[in-house]
Amino acid sequence: MLDILKTRAELTRFLNERRSGISSIGLVPTMGALHEGHLSLVTRSAEENDLTVCSIFVNPTQFNDPSDLARYPRPVESDIRKLTKTGCDLLFMPDAEEIYPEEESWHMELGELERVMEGKFRPGHYQGVTQVVKKLFDLVAPDRAYFGQKDYQQFLVIGELVRQFSIPLELVCCPTQREADGLAMSSRNIHLSPEERKEAVLLSKALFLIRSLANEMSPAEARDKGLELLGSSPLIQVEYLEIAHADTLRPVTDWNEASRVIALVAVRIGQTRLIDNLFIKH
Ligand code: PAF
Repeated sequence: MLDILKTRAELTRFLNERRSGISSIGLVPTMGALHEGHLSLVTRSAEENDLTVCSIFVNPTQFNDPSDLARYPRPVESDIRKLTKTGCDLLFMPDAEEIYPEEESWHMELGELERVMEGKFRPGHYQGVTQVVKKLFDLVAPDRAYFGQKDYQQFLVIGELVRQFSIPLELVCCPTQREADGLAMSSRNIHLSPEERKEAVLLSKALFLIRSLANEMSPAEARDKGLELLGSSPLIQVEYLEIAHADTLRPVTDWNEASRVIALVAVRIGQTRLIDNLFIKH
């Protein structure tokens, strides 16, 4: 049975009553509009923990574009149905006043992670993410927290949050779920027109192309081929396509420079911003 709670006090009471009888709690933080990607995190958490908590909260402090926040999808009833079927035990669905009773002013030093790629194109975004995730970690005190690889830079940022505050939990990065043609699942995909949807497949195609070229050419040359492919669509505006050390996100100039290398991309297609990434070496 799925319990649904809206206040911090209810959540704390619920978890205090349960905590002594169980050995682990898994947390899946989300902003709702759940798709197979989110549900794979819930399933994994349900397999690995005695109790799985999912949160749905469209966090206003992580949106640097008010129109993006306004049009973020909120299909609550269908999210609840999906969670009920997926083994989630508790849904925490607070209002903004519950999470932010007063203005937030604290700031985390995230270094380079906040100055490149998503950090650069979405100023302030990761401060909002760390604010809300820290609150959820404090409230739920999970043993494990689950995030999708699609937001890979976010996963590194949350790793930094956990490290700096010495939060005793395990972070789990789960593989990106893709549509049959390769498009990474995202709550934002529903905004794509049929024509835009067709072209959106070029993101994953560019990443897989880079991976297939890694034995033949340098990272810079492979990146150019990826950019060429993205440039073949008049609907796509590239924000970045980078090949980087998977642990630091510093650019690589030689494939052997790092043991783990990842390619990351962000584009705009019409009004919609999409991101994706792929490990080239893992
Ligand atoms: O990845 C998301 O959906 C959000 O950034 C998160 C982690 C739930 C924080 O609001």
